Amino acid sequence: MDFSIKTIDAKTGVSSIKSGCIAVGVFENKKLSDTARELDRKGAITAAMKSGDISGKPGSTLLLRDVDGISAERVLLVGMGSDDAVTEKNFLTAAQAVAKVFASLGTNDALIALPVDKMKDRDTAWAVRATVIALRDADYRFDALKSKKEPQQAGVRKVAIAASAADTAALKTVVAQSVALANGMDLTKDLGNLPGNVCTPTYLADTAKKLAKEFKLGVEVLDRKQLEALKMGSFLSVTRGTDEPPKFIVLKHMGGKAKDAPVVLVGKGITFDTGGISLKPGASMDEMKYDMCGAASVLGTFRAIAEMDLKLNVIGVIPSCENMPSGRATKPGDIVTSMSGQTIEILNTDAEGRLILCDALTYVERFKPAAVIDIATLTGACITALGHHNTGLFTRHDDAHDELADDLLAAGKATGDTAWRMPIEDAYQEQLKSNFADMANIGGPPGGSITAACFLERYTRKYTWAHLDIAGTAWKSGAAKGATGRPVPLLTAYLLDKAQATNGRKSA
Ligand code: BES
Ligand code: MN
Ligand code: ZN
Repeated sequence: MDFSIKTIDAKTGVSSIKSGCIAVGVFENKKLSDTARELDRKGAITAAMKSGDISGKPGSTLLLRDVDGISAERVLLVGMGSDDAVTEKNFLTAAQAVAKVFASLGTNDALIALPVDKMKDRDTAWAVRATVIALRDADYRFDALKSKKEPQQAGVRKVAIAASAADTAALKTVVAQSVALANGMDLTKDLGNLPGNVCTPTYLADTAKKLAKEFKLGVEVLDRKQLEALKMGSFLSVTRGTDEPPKFIVLKHMGGKAKDAPVVLVGKGITFDTGGISLKPGASMDEMKYDMCGAASVLGTFRAIAEMDLKLNVIGVIPSCENMPSGRATKPGDIVTSMSGQTIEILNTDAEGRLILCDALTYVERFKPAAVIDIATLTGACITALGHHNTGLFTRHDDAHDELADDLLAAGKATGDTAWRMPIEDAYQEQLKSNFADMANIGGPPGGSITAACFLERYTRKYTWAHLDIAGTAWKSGAAKGATGRPVPLLTAYLLDKAQATNGRKSA
């Protein structure tokens, strides 16, 4: 799918524009948007509205052909809801409706000219990004492992988005950035959707190496021997039960000044989580192929920022292995020593994410990071707390961390990839007490996502850190089972903002 910005001349408007289809907004009270009115030269659109064939409700659509007096072959009327103000939600619903119609339209090219000026809280840059992401999301297929592929390349493939002359230059950059973001999300979705027998730690490492080659990034992959030399006893305890070799991936995008402290992203890369000896029940266990979605979001974010040529230093770190039971597997009650020197009593081998992350979080101290953000499908308890709408955001509660949390929350809001802040408090730390080691790896059922974050917190005291629990947001279950690409939009928007803050508003 190809996206571009089309400058609309304020005098001549859209009626003389040659296109296979122009998508314009109409409202619930039978009112036309300004652009719809421009195309209503001989009253065809007014007549269609009067007929009741389209309600104007958000997401309702009506396709008109051969509208008199205009150059486009078709006009797609799109309901935007109330004309008082187009809300964020109504705009997104409309963009998704456009994507659905475009997918089976008999033309290759189209122009989208929705009434962005009617939005109160969002600007044209937001609308362009939302449009690109909605269309690319609807276009996403995962049939790599089906012998008969679904037919693609049908419908609209060339999408122009209308802009004023004044907006054109800025929106061209936004289109390029949105396409880069969509490419990153697609990579994250593909990796998540691939099964555990294909997407192994080695496969993730190869994907990182490929990215590094394509975009000239630094890459390093550590294997078991090197992890032993680093004394990552906690990470190694998780990989003991499997024959699949573990990998520890380090990816570097050094787009900033050499001296600037990097932002470090750490992604949980469990390519399959059986639970280990604390075996999970069988129902839906297949979905534990998604337990590497944190890792996939790091790789997808790197795909996006590398294509954007972001002027910021960013390092990605991915501890990756399988969690399997076997005669060699770690057992409940086993005590291991983490890279930090702290000892851990493993009371449940299914709480493995924190065990691989804690060593990665110790490893990244060497980068003297400006901030560290870990991303993990960490706890079922986070789904209980927040459902599937918000990612769980955890940080300590001081000024530096409040600022990081606010930045991440804002990046989530701006992209519709939202997070919700959860507490980290000493009272919860008590639940991790062990009779035999420095800490246990579980804190019991109450506040399970919080005690998991408290565990990680003990390994992050040397830098500013945030934890994103994406257990509820990284993939969908049921009939529409599939990876969502989250939280790549949140992370990418955060890094874009950070680059702008570091380099001044103009350069990023
Ligand atoms: N990968 C799971 C968390 C998970 C479960 C994410 C279901 C999404 C859906 C994680 O490794 C895990 O098993 N966590 C346990 C922790 C418990 C043993 C303290 C959990 O959430 O049940
Ligand atoms: Mn687990
Ligand atoms: Zn897991």
